[in-house]
Amino acid sequence: MAEFLTDITTLRERARQKIEEGPITAAYGADRERVIEVLNEALATEIVCTLRYKRHYFMAKGIHAEGVAAEFLEHAQDEQQHADRIAERITQLGGAPDFSPDGLATRSHAEYVEGDTLEDMIREDLVAERIAIDSYKEIILYLGDKDPTSRRLMEDILATEEEHADDMANLLEDLGRH
Ligand SMILES: [Fe+2]
Ligand SMILES: [Fe+2]
Repeated sequence: MAEFLTDITTLRERARQKIEEGPITAAYGADRERVIEVLNEALATEIVCTLRYKRHYFMAKGIHAEGVAAEFLEHAQDEQQHADRIAERITQLGGAPDFSPDGLATRSHAEYVEGDTLEDMIREDLVAERIAIDSYKEIILYLGDKDPTSRRLMEDILATEEEHADDMANLLEDLGRH
């Protein structure tokens, strides 16, 4: 039963070593530098998505599409929250979250597309969500069992991106019916 568990004395000794590493212990199985890099790409994606949804929110409001605008705003707020949670995890790993506007669009997986019409905006948001879904799935697979906390965070975010994609697909369908 206890075979796969490290004995308690060893665990306690290990915990006292390198305490400056915070939550990162000897059992951390991932390549920390690489995980920080990957999370910074996800952070850039979230920032770009926040900005795009913000732009779409104000533009939709301007053309009196209040229902759609409200949806854009809600998504902008979700993406902002995702960015914050990823940044927090990066600092827990001893890294520095990259908020630099230089190269932001290149670091991001999803694109910033303004879109001319309401339909364009919704379609671009759907495309961006689908890119995020694919790249987050890859990140989750990469993290595997090596960093369960980062993996759970990304799984949680992935679930919201799937809801976002579904929302955008429904809006697009509604628009087509009118
Ligand atoms: Fe997000
Ligand atoms: Fe999203």
